[in-house]
Amino acid sequence: MSKLQNAIVGGVRAALGYVPDGWLPGGTPDPLIDKRVALGTQQSRVDGPEKVRGAARFAAEVPMEGLLYAACVHSTIARGRIAGFDLAAAEAASGVVLVMTHRNAPKMNMPPAIGMTNLKAAGNNILPVMQDPEIRWNGQTVAVVLAETQEQADHAASLVLVRYEAAVARTRFDEAKADARTPDSLMIERNRLKRGNVKAASQAAAGRVDAIYRTPQHNHNPIEPNAATIAWEGERLVVHDATQMLNGTAGSLAKVFGLKESQVYVSSPFVGGGFGGKALWDHQILGAAAAKLAGRPVRIALSRASMHRLIGGRTQTEQRVALSADVDGKLTGLLHHGYSIKSPHGACDEAFTLSGRSLYASESFDIVQHQLDLDVLANTFMRGPGEAVGTFAIECAMDELAHELGIDPVEFRRRNVAHCNPVSGAPHSQSDLMLAYDQGAERFGWHRRAVRPRSRREGEWLIGMGCATGTFPYVRMPGTSVQIRVDCDGRATVSSAAHEMGMGTATVQRQHAADRLGLPLDSVTVRIGDTSLPFSSFAGGSSQTASLGAAINAASAKLASELLRLAGNDTSLAGLKASDIEFADGGLRKIDDPARHESFASILRRAARSDISVMGESGAPLEVLKFSMHSTSAIFCKLRVSDVTGEIRLDRLVGSFDCGRILNPKTAASQFRGGMIMGIGMALNEETLVDERNGRIMSASFADYHVPVHLDVPQIDVLWTDIPDPRTPMGARGIGEIGITGVAAAIANAVFNATGMRVRDLPLTPDKLLNNRPAS
Ligand code: MOS
Repeated sequence: MSKLQNAIVGGVRAALGYVPDGWLPGGTPDPLIDKRVALGTQQSRVDGPEKVRGAARFAAEVPMEGLLYAACVHSTIARGRIAGFDLAAAEAASGVVLVMTHRNAPKMNMPPAIGMTNLKAAGNNILPVMQDPEIRWNGQTVAVVLAETQEQADHAASLVLVRYEAAVARTRFDEAKADARTPDSLMIERNRLKRGNVKAASQAAAGRVDAIYRTPQHNHNPIEPNAATIAWEGERLVVHDATQMLNGTAGSLAKVFGLKESQVYVSSPFVGGGFGGKALWDHQILGAAAAKLAGRPVRIALSRASMHRLIGGRTQTEQRVALSADVDGKLTGLLHHGYSIKSPHGACDEAFTLSGRSLYASESFDIVQHQLDLDVLANTFMRGPGEAVGTFAIECAMDELAHELGIDPVEFRRRNVAHCNPVSGAPHSQSDLMLAYDQGAERFGWHRRAVRPRSRREGEWLIGMGCATGTFPYVRMPGTSVQIRVDCDGRATVSSAAHEMGMGTATVQRQHAADRLGLPLDSVTVRIGDTSLPFSSFAGGSSQTASLGAAINAASAKLASELLRLAGNDTSLAGLKASDIEFADGGLRKIDDPARHESFASILRRAARSDISVMGESGAPLEVLKFSMHSTSAIFCKLRVSDVTGEIRLDRLVGSFDCGRILNPKTAASQFRGGMIMGIGMALNEETLVDERNGRIMSASFADYHVPVHLDVPQIDVLWTDIPDPRTPMGARGIGEIGITGVAAAIANAVFNATGMRVRDLPLTPDKLLNNRPAS
């Protein structure tokens, strides 16, 4: 994004400085913060029984008459042109119906880029798909084979021969640094930040660290691989997709195929994990194109290997963090510089330099990040994008400086924790990070940590403890809308094209709607998961609960007014204004006179109506431009490192979260734990191995790309402050991505405490520990 965007965001922020807080969204705290009945209670997922019975149907399971199965052929060069094909063997193979290449693919437009401003765009690769012989990354799809079975398609794909004219490709991270780009902005923030004089602070410091931290590329590996089952019904395109962006996908496919939005229907009632990877990639476009060419429906269910070639993940990063502190352990300088990859056709920033701007009250800042143009698959968002890797660097550096100064790492954070946004001065909406630290430290037993590194040993095992801070911004998306329908039995149905990726979307919004409308849980149904429902933004940025929450809140206000109007004068509610009434006991009542009540059923019956429907929408999230709003956490880790093999075994993790009010402890605990387990993967296992000579991913299977298994995961305790954020719907902030942030640093810091070795390169594999062993 651009200078213009910086100017607009800066202008809006400045203008909001003059607007009274009460006028902004959240200006009056949500009454549900204090009036919770279903919210805050343990609720099992409403979709649980269907999933346990195997009745929940995922995208690759939708049956269709005459279905064909697709397999992709991937380029083996990073840049150049396709010179020719030999398709005879593939076309003659049994069951093959057709082979699609750029020579016979239908004409299609470019997918519109995913971004914050167009919710109908979801494209990650901003390139024409199979329209020309150009190759832009190693792994790009060069042919799609359609056959009567998946096995036949997979076999025939292996028979496709492609001749290339290879061109010189940029595939080396270190070489590309010389030509790095420095964008004007990252997400919606200004990229370059300078406050005060970091250099002078460093020279005058009582303690300082200055180190380089590296994190590798990561690939998406949700339990359900990306998949779509696609049919053309005349001029209408029907896509059963695994997506966290229903409307983004529908809008993009409409653009690609030159259709009206109403001609594209996308359904995705269940998604087996998204984490940022379940958006629009080439496979849905190729599947729809192949279905058009064949005149038959197509299932394109990516193999793990195809996923690694076609679904972008998290970019490699190199980050320099330099911290300075005075004799009292107060930060005087914070420098965070670094590089990430953003291929020329990519749309997503890995904004890892944002976390250091909100957490600690340094006197001076020097922050900027650079992007490398490489001829590789575009990377995308991946759980805690930016913050997951940014907190690794910042929080390891904080631990290093605490050690240098001889201050306990928790105490060091207490001396520096920000009490407002340290850069803009914006007040926090709510922030109690140190309470999270104190509660977490107590639960964990932090006082048992040995201050001196490498001083606790049990046989070959060196024992250590570490901690780190996690953070993720609060995001509420505009444009998310819901319909609330109340019928004459007094039952409510809430509908929105929202997403269920395993986090409990319908479960929590059912609790919300029940409390909002004064109904028992049993009287509320939530319908989500396809584009026939009211427009919704994506499930991403940990924003969905807040966005849907704001929309339900807005719809409920309309419902109250409409019902009051319908109720007329022949009612105990006669003469009351919307501000006089509230929802209670399945109807409306006067706030200070509960005897004046009429039920929904009674109002509708008297008006001779079978039901009433209203719409509500999440408006512009101006509050996030005026207030500093972040979920934060304190992560604690105890582990042991073998002094013989360098193997790391985790003994315990504690995650203590400050994320506003928790809406459903059962699903929330699961989100936190899942995020923390992904953090274990980041710390110990996950690493996409790239052959830098040709840009080819060499670890395109679970045999080579390691994720944590049950044996890697220790006891994980999660707890939370549960302090409401007065500026958000229901007092809650996002909890989807915060869990992964801070974990890798807590583990690396515990490794230092155990061994006295600083490994600043993820993942923390045994070789790195053995190669750094002190000479004792
Ligand atoms: Mo998230 S990385 O926005 O799914």
